Amino acid sequence: MENIFLEDKRYILNTYRRMDLNLVKGQGSFLWDDQGRRYLDMFSGIAVNNLGHGNKEIKEAINEQLEKYNHLSNFFVSESVVNLAKLLVENSFGSKVFFCNSGTEANEAALKLARKYGKSIREDKTEVLTFYNSFHGRTYGGLSLTGQEKYKQSFQPSVPGINHIKFNDCQDLKNKVSDKTCAVFLELVQGEGGIKEVSNEFIRDLVNLSKEYKFLIIVDEIQTGLGRTGDLFAYQGLGFTPHIITLAKALGGGLPLGAMVVGQELENVFQPGDHGSTFGGNPVACAAGVVVLSKLLEKEFLKEVKRKSSYLLGELIKLRDRFPQIILDIRGKGMIIGLEVGDYADKIKQRALEKGVLLNITSGTVLRLLPPLTITYEEIDLFLRVFSSILEEL
Ligand SMILES: Cc1ncc(COP(=O)(O)O)c(C=O)c1O
Repeated sequence: MENIFLEDKRYILNTYRRMDLNLVKGQGSFLWDDQGRRYLDMFSGIAVNNLGHGNKEIKEAINEQLEKYNHLSNFFVSESVVNLAKLLVENSFGSKVFFCNSGTEANEAALKLARKYGKSIREDKTEVLTFYNSFHGRTYGGLSLTGQEKYKQSFQPSVPGINHIKFNDCQDLKNKVSDKTCAVFLELVQGEGGIKEVSNEFIRDLVNLSKEYKFLIIVDEIQTGLGRTGDLFAYQGLGFTPHIITLAKALGGGLPLGAMVVGQELENVFQPGDHGSTFGGNPVACAAGVVVLSKLLEKEFLKEVKRKSSYLLGELIKLRDRFPQIILDIRGKGMIIGLEVGDYADKIKQRALEKGVLLNITSGTVLRLLPPLTITYEEIDLFLRVFSSILEEL
């Protein structure tokens, strides 16, 4: 290949502002470029590589499954698929799983299921509410659920019957909910929306209204799930039970895999033929997923994520106290942390890259830290050293 950057531009549709970096290898929390330079990966493929890069057990599980077969069809049972579903069910509120390939597809499944559930109660119980500033994916269902105009404006009309409520605004929820509402979709920490946490008060009202109006609470755990917030699923940290959660990102250990987990009362809403996917629940991705889940469920793993998070947040607060004009706010929990840095975001990202740290920006002004959950204290210190040296320069 003559020049990968030129050929990338020549052959691939321009939908991402790609960085000027040719990464050729990853191990643990680090990536290396084609010049042999090492980078600390502080965004893990946007919350995908929760166990870091090059995990040996994931590779072994993938290879073992590849030796058997890499694809059958959802018309046949498959051991790794059943094993992963069992792990998800046994460690959540859920009782059954539907597998797909991505986050947006998991939300599509949930949207369809919610409408079929609603119609089983009354024909016009099909309305859906989601938050403004939310992000739920790029296909038409996911896009329509998303509460940010910038993603949607060029692609209207959206799927009908989806309205938005102000973030954490109980009164707005009360005003907009009705007997026609079949579901409320929400992220418990808005990821693309700038790392904003839902309040306990909002959840309390949501749960009460859901009982009164018989709508489903559908939690999009695509970014927050699988240990990211320090709990296996973010809803567990808030102490309530949703009706459905949607998962993807970290689920397949770096391979494409999504899932919708439903509670017992919804087990029979979908009947054969109602929904499906050729590749959904690919056996190789599920074999990797079994390793991911098993690791997250090890006794000390998530406790250690919480301890490392407290350390990182504590040190970031000290930096905010030293540089209050740059770090305007710190939000998030576990290993999903947002630093509001206003117009400094791009400059910090660029300087970090030059100093060997990969950072991600969301909402234009927020540095979104999504390191592998396996990041060590030494690696956290490395990030803090680089970050504070950049703050000093600014
Ligand atoms: C909360 C949330 N929902 C849905 C999606 C869409 O997932 P995917 O890109 O796998 O379709 C994302 C992706 O960033 C997300 O963060």
